[in-house]
Amino acid sequence: MGMATRVPFASASSLTGSSCQRHKYGWLARSWSPPVFSSSLKLPESSTLSISNLASSSSTLLPSFSTKKRKGLRRLRVIVMADSSRSTVLVAGAGGRTGQIVYRKLKERSDEYVARGLVRTEESKQKIGGADDVFVGDIRDSDSIVPAIQGIDALIILTSAVPQMKPGFDPTKGGRPEFYFEDGAYPEQVDWLGQKNQIDAAKAAGVKQIVLVGSMGGTDPNHPLNSLGNGNILVWKRKAEQYLADSGIPYTIIRAGGLQDKDGGLRELIVGKDDELLQTETRTIARPDVAEVCIQALKFEESQFKAFDLASKPEGAGTPTKDFKALFSQITTRF
Ligand SMILES: NC(=O)c1ccc[n+]([C@@H]2O[C@H](COP(=O)([O-])OP(=O)(O)OC[C@H]3O[C@@H](n4cnc5c(N)ncnc54)[C@H](OP(=O)(O)O)[C@@H]3O)[C@@H](O)[C@H]2O)c1
Repeated sequence: MGMATRVPFASASSLTGSSCQRHKYGWLARSWSPPVFSSSLKLPESSTLSISNLASSSSTLLPSFSTKKRKGLRRLRVIVMADSSRSTVLVAGAGGRTGQIVYRKLKERSDEYVARGLVRTEESKQKIGGADDVFVGDIRDSDSIVPAIQGIDALIILTSAVPQMKPGFDPTKGGRPEFYFEDGAYPEQVDWLGQKNQIDAAKAAGVKQIVLVGSMGGTDPNHPLNSLGNGNILVWKRKAEQYLADSGIPYTIIRAGGLQDKDGGLRELIVGKDDELLQTETRTIARPDVAEVCIQALKFEESQFKAFDLASKPEGAGTPTKDFKALFSQITTRF
């Protein structure tokens, strides 16, 4: 289903057709028609040319050739078209702790995906490698995220308001730290309006699927996370989830348990509904496992139009999850 939209080794003059426009972040398709360019290479008649040489800088490109003999030279015409077999996927929050993992996994699977990242700052961009496929934009400002969303097939939302600890907390003195949100970066602005902006922009751009990572606990307005910094974070996240579910775009809402920085792929994953898992011992999950579920959700239609809680058994208990189609098939809840 993918649309490859970047033509990294084309020069502006080599572009033909009207489907491409130059953008400061690279070549972006203006419509669904694939970007095409042609160029001529002069080779001695005896030369051979390997496709892999030509396409080595981007497996996005599918060359085709025609040759014409002139003055002892064989003129080679190369027509390069976008590879429609790969899916272009934007990770919003690609500088975050889970977002980084999703972005990296997508890059590692470049035979299946064309990865893009959206980060808030240039600093975050550099933190994840500074590649041209990382766009800088603020989800509170709709216009700033349009270039990143234009031409993608799927969007994975991993943005979140982040509470800050008030200075002066001394763990040696006991008690609990206090938290606050910076002005303009409250959950209402980031988790509600910022996510709504992304959903609206994705809908306008014809995006085919949105995966949204939320949090368990949203069924309880009195959940302690809501009092953190007076942000009502779970309330605003839930509102954005509802907006997505009502949008008409195929969606997958993953309400994760407590995120842990542990290795992934080692545990049996558990799906649930309505925060029921919070009443059990199974209510945490490793960030790489959440990241994997985000990507697997793009592969199986069993994940679509579903919202679910996600946690894992402890390592060593149960069998590490490998069959994601079966995992998504267990889910019956649309919200
Ligand atoms: N922590 C937990 O235990 C837990 C549990 C369940 C669910 N979750 C949810 O899981 C998701 C991933 O969590 P995480 O801990 O991996 O995330 P994280 O590290 O806190 O990352 C959040 C990302 O959102 C980005 N962001 C914030 N405001 C933005 C804005 N205005 N524009 C663009 N980007 C913005 C941040 O960018 P900057 O880096 O530039 O600030 C950051 O990269 C979140 O939705 C979180 O709420 C977390």
